Amino acid sequence: MGLRLGDTAPNFTAKTTEGTIDFHEWLGDSWGVLMSHPADFTPVCTTELGAVGGLDSEFAKRNAKVIVVSVDSVDDHYKWSQDIAETQNNSVTFPIIGDEDRKVAELYDMIHPNEGDTSTVRSVFVIDPNKKIRMTLTYPKSAGRNFDEILRVIDSLQLTDNYKVTTPADWQYGDDVIVSPAISNEEAEKLFPAGFTELKPYLRMTKQPNL
Ligand code: BEZ
Repeated sequence: MGLRLGDTAPNFTAKTTEGTIDFHEWLGDSWGVLMSHPADFTPVCTTELGAVGGLDSEFAKRNAKVIVVSVDSVDDHYKWSQDIAETQNNSVTFPIIGDEDRKVAELYDMIHPNEGDTSTVRSVFVIDPNKKIRMTLTYPKSAGRNFDEILRVIDSLQLTDNYKVTTPADWQYGDDVIVSPAISNEEAEKLFPAGFTELKPYLRMTKQPNL
């Protein structure tokens, strides 16, 4: 059975472009984004890693570390990183795992044989500081990922972990949020002094409470 939300992210040791790491130790108290790509020296992956490099400060702002994995060697990752810097206006600012023995790919079920070969698909795991898996995404090889969406979900998780709210469809940081259906109107009045709007008894909107 694959990994599910709420499971502990499996630990591993692996060779990376920043040396050998123990995954849980490397994460420390940070949030983590573990993501796989199919292969080095391929076009979509080149744009993806460049995009993540450009979002370095956005991940740091959220106390989140990114680590990337493919079944290519660390040597290939170094060489390919030069192409990324040359073509994407961003450099690789995060470790890339050389998973030649597929240990990490198999642990996280990142190889989907019906997708054509034995390389990894575009998986994403968002992991919280308790090492719990909080989001998973799997994209096909033909579609590059939207990293703003990953940042958006981290924002939502960090907000909803701390306040009795959830975030609506297409929510962006600063938009109104949903009062948790688990709390009464009386409790909501105390928790949200700015008030809330009851569209339906199960759908009550309020201002984002940490602003
Ligand atoms: C790409 O990144 O462009 C790619 C990688 C593997 C298979 C197909 C496309």
